[in-house]
Amino acid sequence: MKLLKEKVMTEGIVLSDQVLKVDSFLNHQMDPVLMREVGAEFARLYAGEKITKVLTIESSGIAPAIMTALELDVPMIFARKHKSLTLRDDILVEKVYSFTKRETNEITVSKKFLNKDDRVLIIDDFLANGEAAFGLARVVEQAGASVVGIGIVIEKSFQPGARLLEEAGYRVDSLVRIASLDNGTVTFV
Ligand code: G4P
Ligand code: NA
Ligand code: NA
Repeated sequence: MKLLKEKVMTEGIVLSDQVLKVDSFLNHQMDPVLMREVGAEFARLYAGEKITKVLTIESSGIAPAIMTALELDVPMIFARKHKSLTLRDDILVEKVYSFTKRETNEITVSKKFLNKDDRVLIIDDFLANGEAAFGLARVVEQAGASVVGIGIVIEKSFQPGARLLEEAGYRVDSLVRIASLDNGTVTFV
């Protein structure tokens, strides 16, 4: 996606050879025009797939997910990261380990928003090791629903997430793919 690539090149800050900071348009301040284009692109990629729900994880996945859901004219659900205090019986729970943060979080989705007939498009802002995406996929499968695909705004292709998800049989569509962040420079695939 041309506009997204330009944003990454002009506003992305390479923090290390592993981490790209994009807080001016995706992770803190958000660019609604860019998010609208991101949503339109995912909707185009999944047109004809009969998507019934878009699923993401709070917080940075919400903007691209809501724009995608708007374009597809379906609801958007975000998995919560904080522990729910009530109704543990009525929620789907999965553990997600973050290599970046070296911690395990429980993600939760209310059972009432996913059912076995749902055809779900998972959306997230970044794909690194794939732990968040695998956790979201397990939530969908726990509900007996289908994961139709996984749409990622920025894939770090030098980390194993995309490969592992594809090896597990999931369709993965990333709008930009970064081959390397070495020497303080963004190199696209
Ligand atoms: P994984 O799910 O692919 O295994 O990724 P990981 O655990 O490493 O990611 C932990 C958090 O860091 C996630 O955000 C993820 O989006 C973010 N992240 C991973 N790599 C990068 C990067 O290079 N740049 C930026 N800006 N973020 C990255 P989160 O903790 O869920 O936070 P939120 O922003 O969604 O609230
Ligand atoms: Na994030
Ligand atoms: Na995220």
